[in-house]
Amino acid sequence: MENNYRRHSCFNHNWLFKLGDDPEGFKPELNDETWQQLNVPHDWSIEYPINKDNPTGRGGGYALAGIGWYRKHFNYEENMKNKKVSLMFDGVYMDSSVYLNGELVGGCGYGYSSFTVDLTEGLREGDNVIAVRVNNSLQPNSRWYSGSGIYRNVWLDIYEKVHVDQWGIFCFTNRIYMNDDKAILQINTRIVNESGIPVNTGVMHRIYDHEGVQVSYTGAPLFLKPGTSGDTMVAPTIKNPHLWTDSDPYLYTLESTVVVDGEPVDFVRTKIGIRTAVFDSDKGFLLNGKSVKIKGMCLHHDCGLTGAVGYRETWERRLLALKEMGCNGIRCAHNPPTPEFLDLCDEMGFLVMDEAFDEWLLTKNKLNNYYSETFAYGYSQFFSNHGEEDLLRMIRRDRNHPSVILWSIGNEIPEQSAAEGVKILKFLRDICHREDPSRMVTSACDNIAAAAPYTTNREFENELDVVGYNYTGRWNERAETLYDEDKRLYPKRRFCGAENPAGLSSFRGDYSPERNYVAATLEHEWLWRYTVSRDFVAGDYLWTGIDYLGEAGWPSKGAPCGPLDTAGFPKDTYYYFKSIWNQNQITLHLLPHWNWEGEEGVFKQVVAYTNCEHVKLYINGRLVGTKGYMCPNYGCRFEWNDPRREDITTHDLHLVWDIPYQPGELKAIGYIAGKKVAETIVKTTKKPNALKAMADREKLRVGGVAHIDISTIDIDGLHVPDATPMINCKVEGPAHLVGMDSGDLMDHTLYSSPSRKMLSGLLMAMVQADGPGDIRVIVSSKGMKDIIINLKAE
Ligand code: GAL
Repeated sequence: MENNYRRHSCFNHNWLFKLGDDPEGFKPELNDETWQQLNVPHDWSIEYPINKDNPTGRGGGYALAGIGWYRKHFNYEENMKNKKVSLMFDGVYMDSSVYLNGELVGGCGYGYSSFTVDLTEGLREGDNVIAVRVNNSLQPNSRWYSGSGIYRNVWLDIYEKVHVDQWGIFCFTNRIYMNDDKAILQINTRIVNESGIPVNTGVMHRIYDHEGVQVSYTGAPLFLKPGTSGDTMVAPTIKNPHLWTDSDPYLYTLESTVVVDGEPVDFVRTKIGIRTAVFDSDKGFLLNGKSVKIKGMCLHHDCGLTGAVGYRETWERRLLALKEMGCNGIRCAHNPPTPEFLDLCDEMGFLVMDEAFDEWLLTKNKLNNYYSETFAYGYSQFFSNHGEEDLLRMIRRDRNHPSVILWSIGNEIPEQSAAEGVKILKFLRDICHREDPSRMVTSACDNIAAAAPYTTNREFENELDVVGYNYTGRWNERAETLYDEDKRLYPKRRFCGAENPAGLSSFRGDYSPERNYVAATLEHEWLWRYTVSRDFVAGDYLWTGIDYLGEAGWPSKGAPCGPLDTAGFPKDTYYYFKSIWNQNQITLHLLPHWNWEGEEGVFKQVVAYTNCEHVKLYINGRLVGTKGYMCPNYGCRFEWNDPRREDITTHDLHLVWDIPYQPGELKAIGYIAGKKVAETIVKTTKKPNALKAMADREKLRVGGVAHIDISTIDIDGLHVPDATPMINCKVEGPAHLVGMDSGDLMDHTLYSSPSRKMLSGLLMAMVQADGPGDIRVIVSSKGMKDIIINLKAE
């Protein structure tokens, strides 16, 4: 953000890096000429081969961790004189110490927090050196893959001595008056006076709609003695507000100008949305007073091939796919995400549960989810001294995002069944309420129905605004009744499924006999029927939306439990969710592929995920049978006595036919109200004959990335779904290949390698623009013609 009063600029370029500790790393005079030059965000863990013996272990995806140093030289600029200068780190994993010209100026233990360091006092004329020591050597310490280094953006801020405090603007919707078509907002601003003299200051707030039309102008004065800070509050009325919803995520822009004696001295721009978000004990989640079922997914922070670095374009690609699937909610499991992630959630309309911690004082064993009775590292190292600070950092940073609808103070916290737990819970919950009166607080509890001594304390549950239920169906006595018993016992309780299974873990396109792909969605089918038929249940966040690194079982380096793989490609379960969650589109998806040479006559189970009323399946033109769902039956418009009701064959939310394999063509035709609305064909293909490649954009911003999806087709032009050729990728022009990913978590080839094997007919290559100009990406594979993709960076 460039303006006359505050310079907020990207500080990502021209860092120097060295892996390993260096006792002299902080010294400005150190000779760092041999250090590696790079730009952040940077994750060194993803650059090295995984190893079964790395101490990060299965929790951390067997990645290399350790200690690393970053240094950056920068010149003192005239415009820093008499100003405040600070650096904002969006995230450094972990235990960072930041030095300016040899002096320690700050740092942060928690690797998932954003934090600032004040440079004002230590700056000098000429060359200045920032040095950052990152200590990720105490392992294992995170569930799950954390990455190592300055893995998010860094920002430099230059501003006046009278200024808005860090994250000092807080705007929320106080109330919406539906009948009068107006909304009352509340804007709190914390202003700091470091000028050394008393000031008559104040703030003016202007709100603009999406078209740039000013819809509100308010302000408040404030007298501040030197060395103090103070708060202002205004409550503007917005007439005819365009409300933010998950299906129409409309954003306004708030521009706040701080003045001293009437003259502007600071300026901050904030995207806001007008909406109320509450949970109700009878009606579930209410967005602007209306019940909205949360169809949510948990996401861990890694992005596959870039490790802990998550480029905006990658999150955009992933979130768009989830949105298209009908998903409207994200739980940031189990830590605060990168800020751009929440910007995208605001823009795309996701209902976000923002989660602070995976542990408090009791340490978890990083191999699984349980309390560790033996010594282990984790956030518990920092909780007693920094828990409050880290929670404040999350809330103050994220509270303006309309997408954030719920704070989670912890995931499966072992203290849920310890005497101390309620005390800590109340402490954290009260901080949330104090900092943000507009949102409710939850914690994801996994032991509500567990047997003693692990049972969650009832008081622990009852002190939460919303009780987050994890895997209640795991416990035998609750497997079928889920939350019903608690609803009877605690009628005023607010219920939300905080974590439940999204499907059986499996790799994309794996139809091997050990994988019961027919049963992949059963657990969720039950949960969905339950959730959709009970208003009091706000909805669910499922584990997980996307495969992630860590929580692995060697030789796998990650957990394949999402409907999207790490490369962002949909698995079959993606279409299951789409068929039940996205009623704006017709889905008729068939699996498996039909390339079973040598298995002629062997029975294959053919599955369809659909939201059609009924489906006719044909093999080589011959009708195999007609099937349909009983409940829920979205498209159902049959009268009770309509003979087509006989096509309803199952209570499942998927259809299955057993067919002896014969090569050729499977064809499914879907009908609604007697009309054909969908046709899906799966054919036996021939061998790969040609490459196909497509980029998700032609134009890149410098520093931005493009994803190129690569596949093969046979001589008839059909996509070959089981192809696994080796693919090579070369980049020419002002760009480089970041790496490739097929979604195969068993593939140990370095992600940055220019050659990689496809998995089940697909592979993704990522290219990053280093400067402006024309870029050529050459995709090749033995025996097939090269494909050239032209991109442009601006
Ligand atoms: C949950 C836990 C997650 C993950 C999941 C299973 O209990 O909160 O972090 O471990 O189980 O994959």
